[in-house]
Amino acid sequence: MASLTIRKLDDAVKAYLRLRSAQHGRSVEEEVRVILQGLIEPTQIPPAPPHPSATDHATFNHGDMSSSPTAGARVTLIIGGGIAAYKSLDLIRRLKERHIRVRCVLTRAAEQFVTPLAASALSGERVYTDLFDPDSEFDAGHIRLARDCDLIVVAPATADLMAKMAQGHADDLASAILLAASRPTLLAPAMNPAMWSNAATRRNAAQLARDGIAMVGPNAGEMAEAGEAGVGRMAEPLEIAAAAERILRPAGPRPLAGKRMLITAGPTHEPIDPVRYIANRSSGKQGFAIAAAAQAAGAEVRLITGPVELADVSGVAVARVESARQMLEQVQAALPVDIAVFAAAVADWRVLNEGGQKLKKTVGALPKLELAENPDILATVAHLNEKRPALVIGFAAETEHLIENAKAKLKRKACDWIVANDVSPATGVMGGDRNTVHLVRRDGEDVTVESWPVMTKEQVATELVARIAKTVVAKPMEASA
Ligand code: CTP
Repeated sequence: MASLTIRKLDDAVKAYLRLRSAQHGRSVEEEVRVILQGLIEPTQIPPAPPHPSATDHATFNHGDMSSSPTAGARVTLIIGGGIAAYKSLDLIRRLKERHIRVRCVLTRAAEQFVTPLAASALSGERVYTDLFDPDSEFDAGHIRLARDCDLIVVAPATADLMAKMAQGHADDLASAILLAASRPTLLAPAMNPAMWSNAATRRNAAQLARDGIAMVGPNAGEMAEAGEAGVGRMAEPLEIAAAAERILRPAGPRPLAGKRMLITAGPTHEPIDPVRYIANRSSGKQGFAIAAAAQAAGAEVRLITGPVELADVSGVAVARVESARQMLEQVQAALPVDIAVFAAAVADWRVLNEGGQKLKKTVGALPKLELAENPDILATVAHLNEKRPALVIGFAAETEHLIENAKAKLKRKACDWIVANDVSPATGVMGGDRNTVHLVRRDGEDVTVESWPVMTKEQVATELVARIAKTVVAKPMEASA
């Protein structure tokens, strides 16, 4: 489809589009596409996927999720001046979803990217921009903004803001708040990869880490500047919200303390030649979220991931691999463990006749790829005798006959639980931030199915880990060999 550029939009329209796109968690461009599609073909928008028959499933206990551990927490969100600032509008939404009160501070440069009006509409609070604003000095003042909160989040944290923090400057409202802060501070750096790898930024980041400042990201990926890629992209709003939640959450019970847990995540890449590979759309978000939730519940977590653009989870040992066979090797090396969760979307096939050099196009002939089946990592581990983890959990990514296929997989792969999710394109699960899952569990001779409502991948992770913990407590697991 041809792309569309609209110039000379009036400011009110721009503000409306920014606000609407932030509310829906889309880019402005996607939002415009949705609006246009709705105007032209309102009947052709795909309907929401049908919910599997309720009679087959146990009812979900909504009460489990109603009390957010961060409810009532207060965050001062400092939005720095970078193109990633538009994502901070979505971050406000994500924090508010967790019942966190958000007060925004915009740097002068940030106002070039987002308006105080948009930040204020989303946060439902007044936005602060000036160090010498008589109103804010009277009403809040930089000292109060720094102290009257439970956490300060800086997103995007530009190279300049990080340099100011490392040096202790206080020449504008944002830096004055950061210098006066007596609360934990979380940075989500975002900058060009050359700036991130520059020795000065490395020094500043190291200094800030020594000063006890937490960081989430930056991630690897494409930059706003055409053709630029590398490490420097701001972490996604959900990752930042999850990191904030981890800091804010009062130290709770650690039901998985002393348990070793293995988690696989992401896709695998199966090489065709040195430059091409077979892959799938998995983002790794669900596996990473489970690792974070398990770590928070006290487990000693080993996360083995295929190629993803996600930052390491703090406190979790992460091994990054490319192919299914490398993933299997790392999984076997990590055994024995008490609990294993296989959330990776492992490629089913690899190329047997992998080219040693880049395959060249030849006129009239297509390359013949010979495929071989990859080892089934989940089935291999679930069928072990001595080193079988006491609880083995698989995922089932299906586009049809979800529950039926999941039950068949549970049996075929000899695992204890299957988290079944519908990954047909209309659901947006693959690569998206939400998931609708059904927990299929072996219960003696029977199989039970529990259907959960649509949730963020973090919520799915929290719920899954809560059930794992319950099982571990109810039935203490035998130590693995
Ligand atoms: N899995 C695995 N190793 C593989 C294939 C799958 O460990 N080679 C695991 C996945 O991590 C997931 C479960 O098996 O936990 C089911 O994966 P899925 O892709 O849904 O099923 P497949 O076994 O690949 O079967 P199919 O593609 O026919 O649905």
